[in-house]
Amino acid sequence: MKTRKGIILAGGTATRLFPLTTAISKQLLPVYDKPMIYYPLSTLLLSGAREILIITTPRDVQSFKNLLGDGSDWGVRFEYKVQDKPRGLADAFIVGEEFIGNDDVVMILGDNMFYGQDFTVMLKRARDREDATIYGYLVKDVSSYGVVEMDSKGKAISIEEKPEHPKSNYAVPGLYFYPNDVVEIAKNVKPSPRGEIEITSVNMEYLKAGRLKVDKLGRGFQWFDTGNPSSLLDAGNFVKSVQERQGMYICSPEEIVYNYGWIDNAQMEKLVEKHSKVEYGDYLRSLLK
Ligand code: DAU
Repeated sequence: MKTRKGIILAGGTATRLFPLTTAISKQLLPVYDKPMIYYPLSTLLLSGAREILIITTPRDVQSFKNLLGDGSDWGVRFEYKVQDKPRGLADAFIVGEEFIGNDDVVMILGDNMFYGQDFTVMLKRARDREDATIYGYLVKDVSSYGVVEMDSKGKAISIEEKPEHPKSNYAVPGLYFYPNDVVEIAKNVKPSPRGEIEITSVNMEYLKAGRLKVDKLGRGFQWFDTGNPSSLLDAGNFVKSVQERQGMYICSPEEIVYNYGWIDNAQMEKLVEKHSKVEYGDYLRSLLK
């Protein structure tokens, strides 16, 4: 089993959500009953990452610290770093260089939500690989994403960022597993015409070197990128409907760390107490063994 450092990239200006995000980080907005960052954070926890760096803006870093603290309540460790300007997704590995140290890394965008059966198995498979792993998700209108083209065996042939004429309908969601040399690769990426160091350029380097795996997220799997008011509401409605129907919560970090044995009963009871006025607390109580 490999251990990987986790990074959540939760900066940016989120102008597509103004006026919602004029004074607050997008990744702190509610997705139904939880702050948005709980969802990508849960994905990293599920993958087994216990040391997680949260990269955000100078304006918002204190709010994230207020929300998440140092991680000790959840048996994990959080670090925080500021990205002073949105230089591009690959900048996460430059900002995070010291935190990454000699480890491999898994990075998720703070506005990406994943939910589906056997996801934990998929995450662990990617975690344990030597090669890089990205995902492919079928999307009707794919031109606003990174797009991966695959051959009949599912091997990646090309990746393009927001292509005018997409070569496939497979979007690349914002969840990436990389070996440690991603730091050096990111440092050598040249800015794109939109002035950013693109994650797609990093993925191209691994593809050219034959070190990139693409795992497909199948039919029935949910991936939301909550970048505009409509997709934000869709994500919230999805969470509400599944939780009410099944009685199981989507992306409760407390549930994950408790099930993984990272916190004991006494610590879980404290978290139940903290949420004693809301249904979330009832749910956490119901998990106590
Ligand atoms: O959501 C998946 C897509 O994310 C991928 O398919 C694309 O390949 C990838 O480039 C990215 O595309 P977006 O256009 O959605 O990226 P955006 O600039 O919106 O940034 C995504 C999130 O990362 C957003 O919440 C803000 C944050 N961010 C962005 C940049 C450029 C940062 O924290 N720092 C940054 O420098």
